[in-house]
Amino acid sequence: MLKIKNINVFYGLIKAVKDISFEVKKGQIVSIIGSNGAGKTSTLQAIVNDVKREGGIVFDGTDVSNHKTHQIIQDGIALVPEGRRVFVNLTIEENLRMGAFNNDARFEELKEKMYKMFTRLDQKRNDLAGTMSGGEQQMLAIARALMSSPRLLMLDEPSLGLAPKIIGELFETIVKLRDEGITILLVEQNAFAALEISDYAYVLENGVIALQDDAKNLLHSDEIRKKYLGG
Ligand SMILES: Nc1ncnc2c1ncn2[C@@H]1O[C@H](COP(=O)(O)OP(=O)(O)OP(=O)(O)O)[C@@H](O)[C@H]1O
Ligand SMILES: [Mg+2]
Repeated sequence: MLKIKNINVFYGLIKAVKDISFEVKKGQIVSIIGSNGAGKTSTLQAIVNDVKREGGIVFDGTDVSNHKTHQIIQDGIALVPEGRRVFVNLTIEENLRMGAFNNDARFEELKEKMYKMFTRLDQKRNDLAGTMSGGEQQMLAIARALMSSPRLLMLDEPSLGLAPKIIGELFETIVKLRDEGITILLVEQNAFAALEISDYAYVLENGVIALQDDAKNLLHSDEIRKKYLGG
């Protein structure tokens, strides 16, 4: 569904992502795991054309390399950014409306679907997003992204700063979305949680893909256990 060919990301003279290629198959959860500064966020920003980069991006058979960020969303790719970035001074419902900017005619229908899926948001429709817990804000960030009706949902470290129980619920939600037919590209430092729900995974180190395999093989690999899963 998504093919990334020889992507490079630059910050001035620094190359943060070095000639990486990978793919995301339709209907799968694919993870990119890696430690601080490995280039995970830069890779996602490269896909949505939000950073200076070179390389090819093919989505559903169409070359979208030259598409601007808003076109990429129109194409069917949505990003839940690192740190959630909900609009804290807007209500939950207003946040959802922001996510539906390309989909205004379907706003009412889609928002009710989100409230059904995320019942905590339903109870708080008219509350300011800034008053919600971290876990609730993460759910809102996902719901907001889903308002554009993506076929590929990309999540940048959704588990960051959340309690284990909340991470469990969040990852159940991600599996549910995959089962409903949305393809998932998940970026995580929490390698264990990510690999447990993933079909396939890439390990990013210093801007290059160091390893790739079926997620269940990586979960059992000695190298991964030592480096990312605490032995
Ligand atoms: N705006 C920027 N200007 C300069 N260098 C940057 C910028 N953003 C990222 N970098 C550098 O690029 C490299 C990759 O950063 P990136 O944020 O993509 O990594 P990451 O894997 O998402 O890390 P984290 O787990 O901390 O979110 C790092 O060395 C980082 O310092
Ligand atoms: Mg990051």
